[in-house]
Amino acid sequence: MSNLIKISPSILSADFSKLGSEVVSLERAGADYIHIDVMDGHFVPNLTIGPEVIKKLRPLTKKIFDVHLMISPVDNFVKDFADAGADIITFHPEATKDTLNTINLIRNENKKVGISLKPKSEIKLVEKYLDKIDLVLIMSVEPGFGGQKFMPEVLDKTKKLKEVISKNNFNVDIEIDGGINFENCTLAKKAGANILVSGSTIFKENKGDLKKNIEILRKN
Ligand code: DX5
Ligand code: ZN
Repeated sequence: MSNLIKISPSILSADFSKLGSEVVSLERAGADYIHIDVMDGHFVPNLTIGPEVIKKLRPLTKKIFDVHLMISPVDNFVKDFADAGADIITFHPEATKDTLNTINLIRNENKKVGISLKPKSEIKLVEKYLDKIDLVLIMSVEPGFGGQKFMPEVLDKTKKLKEVISKNNFNVDIEIDGGINFENCTLAKKAGANILVSGSTIFKENKGDLKKNIEILRKN
């Protein structure tokens, strides 16, 4: 697994009145992935977009669609998101009755599998699946909204997860998501994250200079 840092801007902070051009701008600005936050107003107290929007965005870029499903139940939507053009499908274990079954549903669609841990969710929720998944998404905010404050207590969990992955030589990325800025991105990388999600920092800092903000996150 390449240990180069990847930047995955979250379009939750983009201008929803022009999502297509925002995605194209992110590609031009050097984004590695496009982080798409799907919320159902049930698993989290917010509603965003569904497969139909992703289907419309798909032809606009070749960039990896890093789809973060904050929905429950999740199983009956896996195929819709896969068909819409998701490349990585990440779900929350609390959103399914059978984590292994959800992993297999995503695998059967030939997509990469991610499991997301809320700030208070323990790594034991993912440990026994690390040989079957591609990514663990460590949430550094409570899921549901962009622009929240980074929760540094998740850095310990990130370090522990990195140790387990390295010791067992698992081929699993660690993605950190929530409140990432130009200072705490360094802490996140030191703790073992190799993919950084950012919404508000990328879209709001330096008068919204996407290229500059992505570069700073990558370099700091
Ligand atoms: C929150 C989402 C995050 C969020 C990140 O539930 O999963 O991806 O959009 O946005 P910032 O970087 O503003 O915290
Ligand atoms: Zn997210």
